[in-house]
Amino acid sequence: MDCKTIAILGATGSIGTQALDLVRRHPDRFSAVCLTAQRSAGKLFELVREFRPLAAGLVEEPEEIPADLKFCQWFFGADCSVRVLEAIRPDAALCAITGIAGLDAVWTALDACKQVLLANKEALVTGGSLVTEKSKRLGVPLLPVDSEHSAIFQCLQAAGGNPVRSLILTASGGALRDWSKDAIERATVDEVLRHPTWRMGRKITTDCASMVNKGLEIIEAHHLFGLPPERIRAVIHPQSVIHSMVEFEDGAVLAQLGNPDMRGPIGYAMGYPERIPYGARPLDFAAIGQLTFAEPDLERFPALGYAAEALKAGPWATIVFNGANEAAVAAFLAGRIPFGAIPRLIRDALDSVPPRPIRSIADVYRADAEARACAESMIQK
Ligand SMILES: NC(=O)c1ccc[n+]([C@@H]2O[C@H](COP(=O)([O-])OP(=O)(O)OC[C@H]3O[C@@H](n4cnc5c(N)ncnc54)[C@H](OP(=O)(O)O)[C@@H]3O)[C@@H](O)[C@H]2O)c1
Repeated sequence: MDCKTIAILGATGSIGTQALDLVRRHPDRFSAVCLTAQRSAGKLFELVREFRPLAAGLVEEPEEIPADLKFCQWFFGADCSVRVLEAIRPDAALCAITGIAGLDAVWTALDACKQVLLANKEALVTGGSLVTEKSKRLGVPLLPVDSEHSAIFQCLQAAGGNPVRSLILTASGGALRDWSKDAIERATVDEVLRHPTWRMGRKITTDCASMVNKGLEIIEAHHLFGLPPERIRAVIHPQSVIHSMVEFEDGAVLAQLGNPDMRGPIGYAMGYPERIPYGARPLDFAAIGQLTFAEPDLERFPALGYAAEALKAGPWATIVFNGANEAAVAAFLAGRIPFGAIPRLIRDALDSVPPRPIRSIADVYRADAEARACAESMIQK
């Protein structure tokens, strides 16, 4: 079996480090030839020392590179992930940067690699059909890493080409699932970051608590699987055992189950079509006891409804939804706004930023900048 060369973009994060755990377990199958991060220089140095990539990158240039790490090519600056990919052209790129900051890397990975392993959902929410059309045109697959999209992708492997009636994305409901509207309004950063089932980066954990994450995932599912918005829905499933489901025209529903461990979906994308063992705990059905489901409450979590609305409105609206949310989450995590302001800022931006056609990546960045400027002016008020 050939050893697959992989770039891990966002190597120091939650997804990046779990992907590297799989590389560590399977050195005969995977070689991490590029590693990038934003500012965690110390952490990245440790990873470079262990995995000995051909190239590494940091957005924030450190004062110096340790003498024993000068064996690889180093790139610095906001475009370090793009330059690393262009220099090395690995077989696959795992895009695990948070936010629209990862869009350029996804765009370049489609030119430089044979496969793009996509964790960075915001790149697809903003890049939308520009990204999926480029993937199709170049024959470079976008393999989903998000657990819900991986679950749907796995169910579709068993579908034998039968038409799909609907996609059902499960949602844990996040840290504030059972909280009242008033309590959600005042939730602190610590409370928001206490996710009941998954350990993830701060931005996605905040998005889970507001249910913006499920909204981003519905938009992502639309682009990955080509179903119209009205045939993609979310259901609350607190146990996070069913990772998502596909309904067929005869009413049959296929589901993918497993313990909540991101190494499952990351490994499925890395090894596709083979499954990569990682010492997963077997599902203990008797211990789980019951699997429960509920409708999402749009009264307490209005941002989920705004995402569905944005998807129907068109590409500019999903970019504005994402940009306003990124600005709002950063402001919340910095202690500048209450948690309850996040959906209000998204609503204001959707109502204020005028619709424009999105024909290029430059148009995407223009709409994103307008959404951020709108959110920032509200934050300052
Ligand atoms: N965590 C999960 O379980 C999970 C599940 C599904 C989908 N996702 C998606 O995966 C992506 C990453 O999530 P995460 O939880 O792994 O986030 P995270 O823990 O915050 O990690 C983000 C990583 O990206 C790096 N980074 C940030 N901006 C960068 C830039 N401009 N250039 C290069 N590297 C940059 C960070 O470096 P520093 O450490 O230096 O800041 C870090 O390595 C998000 O889009 C998220 O929605 C995550």
